[in-house]
Amino acid sequence: MNIVDIILKKRDGQALTDEEIHYFVDGVKTKTLPDYQISALLMAIYFSGMNGHEVASLTREMALSGDCLSFPALRHPIVDKHSSGGVGDKTTLVIAPVVAACGLPIAKLSGRGLGFTGGTIDKLESIPGFRTEISEEEFTQFVSQDGIAIIGQSADIAPVDKVLYALRDVTGTVDSLPLIAASIMSKKLADGSDAIVLDVKFGSGAFMKTPEEAIELAEMMVSIGEENGKKTIALVTDMTQPLGCAVGNAMEVKEALDTLRGEGPVDFRAECYALAEAMLMAGERAKNEEEAQRLVHDAITSGKALAKMKAMVMNQGGDVSYIEDPSLFPKAQYSLAGRAQQDGVVSAINAETIGKSSLLLGAGRRRTEDRIDPAVGLYVHKKVGDTVKKGEILFTVEANDESRGAEAVALAQSAYTLTTQSVQRAHTPVYAVVRKDGVIRTEKNA
Ligand code: URA
Repeated sequence: MNIVDIILKKRDGQALTDEEIHYFVDGVKTKTLPDYQISALLMAIYFSGMNGHEVASLTREMALSGDCLSFPALRHPIVDKHSSGGVGDKTTLVIAPVVAACGLPIAKLSGRGLGFTGGTIDKLESIPGFRTEISEEEFTQFVSQDGIAIIGQSADIAPVDKVLYALRDVTGTVDSLPLIAASIMSKKLADGSDAIVLDVKFGSGAFMKTPEEAIELAEMMVSIGEENGKKTIALVTDMTQPLGCAVGNAMEVKEALDTLRGEGPVDFRAECYALAEAMLMAGERAKNEEEAQRLVHDAITSGKALAKMKAMVMNQGGDVSYIEDPSLFPKAQYSLAGRAQQDGVVSAINAETIGKSSLLLGAGRRRTEDRIDPAVGLYVHKKVGDTVKKGEILFTVEANDESRGAEAVALAQSAYTLTTQSVQRAHTPVYAVVRKDGVIRTEKNA
């Protein structure tokens, strides 16, 4: 077999065989293929696409390129949840304790943020002492004992994805549906879960800009999961504006804690509940939507979900007093307001621009080795559909460097669009639900 022939075949729009895909992935893994040939094939895939069988085969090969975890000592089913990435997306911090409180174990591997999207591991590390790298023995012990543990994903899970992602990032091939689907699902196939709930986002703060593109990606990922024996459900959700109000690590943990206390922003709460309910049904803990809704409601109102959060923080070495009293989280030195320049109604908030503004402040990283400042970020006070008066505060920037803070305010200001017309607020952030047997659009979008 020859890599040039494989590149030519894909360039000319033909489907690759399982053997050819194996040859490619093995060449990446063993470092026998040079970056220029790997990149050429990625570009050919970008333009020619892949059929369902090819994507499933690429995903499987990528998953098998590293460790495939299994947790024989744990109670199954284990249901995983994965988000395709967004701004202000702190859903795992709420969903994991809620689902654990409902009796379904959470044994979760999460990622760090890169670029304008945040990562659960960075958010958890803003709790002083919280350890995201623990031994496999501790991990299984905590899940057996309290039904919950969240750790960082090891470098040994789907290592070929790391190589391919780094090359995609510098060759204009990130936003390819088959490559995104294979990248995400290769890590999910290897993480020891039995079922997966995917949160596939669309909008200015997501890879997929339109709901229809997000549905296509969701269908591809659901089919990969199901073909590999994992029950897979995807919720297609709105990322046309930041999720909730807080963007920034400690600020997001505080918002998640509010939500675990039954408060928190309406859109964020609704999305967390919908994802948690989907997990309970995927894990057969709830027979139907009504039962799932009741379980989630009880987990929050009884305080059991918050207690699960405390148990996880305690087990993993974090300071529980921060969970009991979130005002202990460090505050940034400067709080700078962004104000409305005119009367009007907020018609759009570009989530990517808000994410970039938080990156400027040090809330995220441009390179993997960058350090994160947990205290900085933005708080979005006015969301799409809100009426504002000239001079009213739209958002506040929390900064530890005054001049960077001023830059972040100017950038975030440009994310807002105000109109004099009335604007309809979405009644739910969930646009559609994708299962192996089809797509159900929520009422408003049907
Ligand atoms: N998340 C991933 O892990 N991979 C992609 O390609 C996109 C989002």
